Amino acid sequence: MNENIINLLNKDLEGEHAAIIQYLNHAYAMGEGEMACEIEAIAREEMRHLDWLAETIVSLGGVPTLVRGEMRTGGESVSDWMRNDVLQEDDAIAMYEEHIKAIDDSRIKRLLRRILSDEKSHRGDFQHFVDKARKAGAKDLRGSRQDRVAQILNWGIEHEYTVILQYLFHRYMATSEDVQKEMEDQAINEMQHLGWLSEEMVDGGGTPRIEHTEADQSTKAADMLRADIKIEQEVAAEYDRAAKEVEDPGLKSLLIRIRDHEIYHADLFSDLLKQEEE
Ligand SMILES: [Fe+2]
Ligand SMILES: [Fe+2]
Ligand SMILES: [Fe+2]
Repeated sequence: MNENIINLLNKDLEGEHAAIIQYLNHAYAMGEGEMACEIEAIAREEMRHLDWLAETIVSLGGVPTLVRGEMRTGGESVSDWMRNDVLQEDDAIAMYEEHIKAIDDSRIKRLLRRILSDEKSHRGDFQHFVDKARKAGAKDLRGSRQDRVAQILNWGIEHEYTVILQYLFHRYMATSEDVQKEMEDQAINEMQHLGWLSEEMVDGGGTPRIEHTEADQSTKAADMLRADIKIEQEVAAEYDRAAKEVEDPGLKSLLIRIRDHEIYHADLFSDLLKQEEE
């Protein structure tokens, strides 16, 4: 029985994951502006949904999936993107309605109804953005920059996306409150990094490529922390190298700021590992 519910909730989770990345892609590509901010706010609501679903899956004895569902990419204009986002919400609404019917647990039904009401509201927002984007002349600000700077930024974006998934997974599977709290905090910090690097990329005439590599899916705290320390040390060194290589002073200081955060993460995880090993 639980297994069936876990499978349904993991399908919902895949959909939330896809929506988050689809919407972030759109928001970053539009640059700074009111509509981009509103789309980012919707993506943040989807992150809360993802969080609730993952916690419920763990409470049922399941493992939250890191698989991303289908995204609707493409579209010639911002207005087309907004239409794709309406369709994404349509799918979410249909899926939640189906799962509310299929699941017999009142606590989970209540949660899914709560999420469903958000999705309906998002659908209305995106519908409104279809016209608004046309009237406001919203543009795709991304360019085709492919030089070393673009390479560095996309490397950083890929890394940040990977550790966001990794730390969220570790946060869901960890049993110690200290580990849970730090994983959540640092995942949020990595989301900031992802945003900064993506915005820098669009400002500089490039296109953020929001894809990830393999995230560590250890389930024992000491194993998680060892993997997390290793990746933090590697990327701190890589950000340091990149900061020395780039000439633009704004980009240099951004990379140094992120590097310092990663050093902080490595130290913090090392302390947690010591606690775990005691
Ligand atoms: Fe959602
Ligand atoms: Fe980071
Ligand atoms: Fe980090």
